[in-house]
Amino acid sequence: MNRIGIIGAMELEVEELISKLENAKITEKTGKKFYEGKLNGKDVVIVQCGIGKVNSAICVQLLADLFDVDAVVNTGVAGSLRAEINIGDIVVSTDAVEHDMDVSPLGYEPGIIPQMEESFFKADRKLVEKAIEVCKKVNPDISVYEGRVLSGDQFISSAEVKDRLIATFDGSCTEMEGASIAHCAYLNKIPYVVIRAISDKADGSAHMDYPEFERAAAAHCAKLVENLMNII
Ligand code: ADE
Repeated sequence: MNRIGIIGAMELEVEELISKLENAKITEKTGKKFYEGKLNGKDVVIVQCGIGKVNSAICVQLLADLFDVDAVVNTGVAGSLRAEINIGDIVVSTDAVEHDMDVSPLGYEPGIIPQMEESFFKADRKLVEKAIEVCKKVNPDISVYEGRVLSGDQFISSAEVKDRLIATFDGSCTEMEGASIAHCAYLNKIPYVVIRAISDKADGSAHMDYPEFERAAAAHCAKLVENLMNII
């Protein structure tokens, strides 16, 4: 892989990687800054896409059209959907689905996008395996899991919604960009992986600690992504 696009929604999720970029060149498009340079010896383009499915999809398209990336890595935080996946742990995507896509009144299963061949977008197996291998090396104090990423334009913070998502989609974590990044990567035939560190349990618990957990989780992810660059 010659050039990797790295996307994070929030400043917290990309600032550390941007600070480590060598020979950074900035291009602005759609109000977003694309940072080209070398990260750990690899040509990369890093962008803070902003929150949600539309912002993140736009950035994948720009990474494909303007920067000719041949893989996309999404880094950031997420809410856990499994009891065994704790705050601080990392989930690497097996696949990703837009949990708020719902055309069920017309007979489609939740999450299914009518008139598309795929709605559960599979991550690139090599990227998944390498991410897990690197995570075990650089973050030995936490656990890393493979699993389905559920994305929607909603911050999930109720046990009821969480339970519905688990029952409907059997996901491992929930966030707001991974599946739209996967969707856009699929349409452009670009391999992708989502790497998310758990910042909360998606059930409204432990609100007071969220900012602290979020920061520690983002740091785990950044460390993994940086160390992934020289082996892909
Ligand atoms: N990002 C981090 N935690 C989240 C949650 N609970 N729901 C959606 N996005 C998130």
